[in-house]
Amino acid sequence: MDVRGTFPGPTIESRRGRPVTVTHRNELPVPTVVHLHGGRTPAASDGYPTDLVLPRGWAAPATPHGSGHGSGHGSGHGSGHGMHDPRAVVTEVTRDYTFPLDQRPTLLWYHDHRMDFTAPAIWRGLAGLHLVRDDAEEALGLPAGPRELPLMIADRAFAADGALAYPALDPALRERPGVREPYLAGALGDVILVNGAPWPVHEVDAARYRLRVLNASNARHYELEAVGDDGRRLDLVQVGADQGLLAAPVTHRLLPIAPAERYDLIVDFSGVPVGGRVRLLNRLGSGRTRDVMAFRVARKAADGSRVPATLSTDLPDWRRSDAVRVRDFAFRTGHLHSGRGWLIGGLPFDPARTDVTARLGDVEVWRLIADVHHPVHLHLVGFRVLSRSGRPPLPHDAGLKDTVSLRPGEAVEIITRFDGYRGRYLFHCHNAEHEDMGMMANLEIT
Ligand code: C2O
Ligand code: CU
Ligand code: CU
Repeated sequence: MDVRGTFPGPTIESRRGRPVTVTHRNELPVPTVVHLHGGRTPAASDGYPTDLVLPRGWAAPATPHGSGHGSGHGSGHGSGHGMHDPRAVVTEVTRDYTFPLDQRPTLLWYHDHRMDFTAPAIWRGLAGLHLVRDDAEEALGLPAGPRELPLMIADRAFAADGALAYPALDPALRERPGVREPYLAGALGDVILVNGAPWPVHEVDAARYRLRVLNASNARHYELEAVGDDGRRLDLVQVGADQGLLAAPVTHRLLPIAPAERYDLIVDFSGVPVGGRVRLLNRLGSGRTRDVMAFRVARKAADGSRVPATLSTDLPDWRRSDAVRVRDFAFRTGHLHSGRGWLIGGLPFDPARTDVTARLGDVEVWRLIADVHHPVHLHLVGFRVLSRSGRPPLPHDAGLKDTVSLRPGEAVEIITRFDGYRGRYLFHCHNAEHEDMGMMANLEIT
């Protein structure tokens, strides 16, 4: 398959429990790492940031700070971390990633996870979708086939010649990580892409559709609404979260979505007159970034789909009393060796330091505290949201998540069981610029 230059990357569709091996071949001038976000994946295939796939003949850049652990993030100097992680498993040109996919069916996505350079790599297009399906979900009768639309939403900025514009300190992405000072909080674009196209208009039948929405933006938050020509809002009926189906549908008029979050939504266009339009808007945007995409209702059509009142019965119901431990993590800005950056528990990421050791099978409660917005993501496991600043979770916190949006000043409690595999994993902020500038930590499952 020739997929040179496609964005998003090819969509992969898998069956639950049927392992898939994906061979990635690096023909770029810089190292890459592939991570399947939301995948329950053995550590060797999880895309740890120093498990680089090097280009042919890659000469590692000189590291100004010698061994440099914990240094060199932010607006400062190159770190060369990848060269100083004794546990890194580096390959040349290709690497096979094997995914058991023994997990609830859902929309996953794969993206670059290279040490210090994840944000510009995703911005330049190293991201794609991976759907996991199973018989039980298909038996529900949700809209399917052409009425199921995966929507990867991502903002980008372009130069006058159409090239992608990213404020990298080192545009070659070789030595000096980080972004120019005004972008430390995250890189925002002024063009909204859906599946790689700017503000697309999609023709639909007057029927129910299943929209599988991913926010693949580096730093932009959205608050989605679907608005008809008459100004009326259509319901966004949520049937699934990051980690698969909810127990029962949850109806939203407005739906916040942070970087890396996914929502599985049913929208019913049957009440929209033929020729009418429904716009998907971002209430947090301004000017052109208020628009995301539009649907044009082209024809009346029969609709045999259903949205059952019970969607799933296999959601874990971990209780506080199951937890063997409660941990606290503060996600805050702070000083790094060479400038300003983003810290977890006061520390910038260091591949050589184990931040959390959790026992396989243990249930834990984590309390995540934010200064500004931070979408926090755990590798390997799904979790449930227990509370937000002492109050019950929000309607869109339903189901099993792998990324939770911490709002400014908020303390969010999550509960999970460390199931799956032993090994070295990560948790981090999924604002990609924060992630590159220190806001990541190691999670060792033993
Ligand atoms: Cu989307 Cu560490 O991942
Ligand atoms: Cu992930
Ligand atoms: Cu952050």
